[in-house]
Amino acid sequence: MRRDNLLSFLYFMANTILIGAQWGDEGKGKIIDVLTAKADIVVRSQGGNNAGHTVIHRGAKYILHLIPSGILRRGKVCVIGNGVVIDPIALVAEIEGLRKLQVVIGKNLLISDCAHLVLPYHRSLDEQRELRKGRAKIGTTKRGIGPAYGDKAARTGLRMSDLMQPVLFSKKLQAKVRENNSILHALGAKAINYREVNERYLEAGRKLRPFVSNTVVYLHRALQRGKEILFEGAQGTFLDIDHGTYPYVTSSNTTAGGACTGSGVPPHRMDLVLGVMKAYTTRVGEGALPTEDSTLAKMLHEMGREFGATTGRARRCGWFDAVATRYATMINGIDEVAVTNLDGLDAVDPIRVCVAYRLNGKRLDVPPCDATQLENCEPIYQDFPGWKTSTQSAKQISDLPFTARGYIKAIAQLTGAPLRIVSVGPTRNETIIL
Ligand code: GDP
Ligand code: IMO
Ligand code: MG
Repeated sequence: MRRDNLLSFLYFMANTILIGAQWGDEGKGKIIDVLTAKADIVVRSQGGNNAGHTVIHRGAKYILHLIPSGILRRGKVCVIGNGVVIDPIALVAEIEGLRKLQVVIGKNLLISDCAHLVLPYHRSLDEQRELRKGRAKIGTTKRGIGPAYGDKAARTGLRMSDLMQPVLFSKKLQAKVRENNSILHALGAKAINYREVNERYLEAGRKLRPFVSNTVVYLHRALQRGKEILFEGAQGTFLDIDHGTYPYVTSSNTTAGGACTGSGVPPHRMDLVLGVMKAYTTRVGEGALPTEDSTLAKMLHEMGREFGATTGRARRCGWFDAVATRYATMINGIDEVAVTNLDGLDAVDPIRVCVAYRLNGKRLDVPPCDATQLENCEPIYQDFPGWKTSTQSAKQISDLPFTARGYIKAIAQLTGAPLRIVSVGPTRNETIIL
């Protein structure tokens, strides 16, 4: 990877991996939409329709689940890479929903033939496992993500290429439905109807056929022609299957490496990693959130903010956690930082930032691996003065109040990477690029 001072000038001419540096919902969709203006291709490389990426454009709100957030810009190509798990029914619904909103979807969408499929038994298993866990549940989106990646790892999954071969697909599906129905039966859950699923999936397969191809070859040819690629991370660093707050994580590699394995673009072709983080912290689902603060959550919810884009659940909220974002910089190799939702703190004073954890009387500078230990970590805070005025109309950094500038500079410094983008509202225009 290139790591020189010229990087900032090359920023918009580079292959950029954009990742969430917290627990998801950092505002990735909004930043992708902004950056797509300068990119040629936007690629999703992991996750599935558990993701919900919000883009506000010309007064309309678009929530993208499987389709990259670059789709709203004409002339850009969007790729759903091999590392994504695709629910074909949900994808067809998303395409049709966007078309109804006048979004053009045709040759600008490519789907990897190697991407694994999410099937109805994955969703049922996801639901049943959560039910059985009771209070220890993960709080999944119930989109079947865990069981679909489970099948992939067990080498028993069905892929897009199978769906493109109806006879083969039906045969494989029948065996999988039989196998999974015996598991669902043992769990006391409703059986899956093979015929019905087969029919619905084959129909979705027919609709998706024009988009399906070998996207690895497409991306490599595009790179040879000097095209610029933006890799759109889904979820966030602490939901990563390896580096997140296991077991309260999703089932894919949400960190920068996932962009390579999930697209077939090798590491040396990546130029820059942009870490997106909110000016505070949110999490939806269960698991530790060391800086959680009910007063901050109440304030944000009363402003109508921080409700999940996929499930509508109220997000848990807390103070900015620099222990987490610093670790995210390490894992992802974050070169530059985008801070979003700064305006969410406009009325808050003082503003707290977690600079270290305390566990059993010891100071920790990195999050512990163990979920229970993380639950027991107490944040050590540094307080910053608030600005108590609206930041939403700021167009450049100098328009921001002095204390707001001090705050974002401090959180970037604590994170260990230079600040590049500040977002002060959900629309494209409410973005400051430094
Ligand atoms: P993603 O999953 O990372 O793409 O994030 P989500 O779309 O799930 O959640 C982010 C939410 O914050 C969405 O409602 C966005 O419209 C909104 N948003 C993003 N950046 C800003 C910002 O700077 N200010 C405000 N007010 N909202 C923002
Ligand atoms: P975006 O891309 C926030 C969370 C779920 C749950 C855990 C596992 O919009 O940032 P899963 O359904 O993946 O098995 O759920 O991960 N989760 C997300 N949280 N944003 C997301 O995506 C998420 N995708 C999954 O809430 O805690
Ligand atoms: Mg989201």
